[in-house]
Amino acid sequence: MSVKIRTEEGAITMRGVDSLYADLNEACSPGSLLRRWEPLAKRTTLRVGGGAELYFEAADETDLRLALGLAGEHGVPWMVLGRGSNLLIRDGGIRGLVISLGREAFSMMVVQGERIAVGAGARLKHLAVEARRHGIAGLEFLEGIPGSVGGALRMNAGAMGSATFDRLESLRALDCNGHVVERARAELEVTYRHCPFFDTHVALSAVFLGEARSKEEIEIRMKSMNSKRWESQPSEPSAGCIFKNPAGMSAGRLIDEVGLKGTVIGGARVSEIHGNFIVNAGGSTAADVLKLIEVVRHRVFEARGILLETEVLIVGEEGSV
Ligand code: EPU
Repeated sequence: MSVKIRTEEGAITMRGVDSLYADLNEACSPGSLLRRWEPLAKRTTLRVGGGAELYFEAADETDLRLALGLAGEHGVPWMVLGRGSNLLIRDGGIRGLVISLGREAFSMMVVQGERIAVGAGARLKHLAVEARRHGIAGLEFLEGIPGSVGGALRMNAGAMGSATFDRLESLRALDCNGHVVERARAELEVTYRHCPFFDTHVALSAVFLGEARSKEEIEIRMKSMNSKRWESQPSEPSAGCIFKNPAGMSAGRLIDEVGLKGTVIGGARVSEIHGNFIVNAGGSTAADVLKLIEVVRHRVFEARGILLETEVLIVGEEGSV
């Protein structure tokens, strides 16, 4: 919907998704993709949830800045979609503009010595493999995290005792006004699974610094992490760990000890393999997952007095798919 607004000078301007659609469609390059009510479930690893009111795959940084600028002018809220791996979209979908950095322009990788510059849209797995190919150690743990570099930066994603910011040297990002800013690692505040900088910025690219090692040594470490993950985490569709670990504790172990593994609501189930995963066992809705999250939180609080906090980003409107 669009709304007519009279400006101070008396001119009539249009604001809203319809007028944003028209303007963006006209101004963006032919390489970008713009769609109304694009289904998003298939673009998330949990495979649930509604669509995007307006979906934009930016061909490059110019079109990304254009989209952010126009969204601001039209008063339309926006969010950036990575690989959809730590994301739970409610069944009513996402109002406003959803921007994907899935195009090739955002996945470039340039290696120089022990440094890798990588676009925010690149898959973490590809980054880890590229690092191994060049004998750069320290990024092996990223191989098993099913997300993009931008998503990993936003939440300081981690596994196997390492986190994304451990190896970060610097990054480039867009601020809310579409200006490119650069930050060194030391300038960024970061905590367990959170970097507040990304509450107001969109990651464009990052430089990671590793250490020179033999490819064989890196391969051994990667394989061992890979098999640990296959043994301890489910292979069904999931959003990764649903809850943050409370200080000094594994949320998965806690959920396991309370006896919640295997609990089912609709198509959603607490994994029997790892208690901190809710899997889509087939035909799950976002509402099923959300109800199950509440059941787990309630039961863990009753049994242990610990209130679990969700790690997964929950967005969108309630409703049916
Ligand atoms: N454990 C149980 N039962 C369970 C799950 C775990 O007893 O159902 C026990 C394990 O046997 C182990 C301990 O709890 O002794 C810790 O388990 P794990 O190594 O799986 O680590 P975690 O703390 O549960 C964290 C991250 C994972 C990451 C793993 C492996 C969080 C919330 N989770 O899990 O990250 O893959 O370590 O490094 O920080 C994610 O963030 O999405 C995620 C999956």
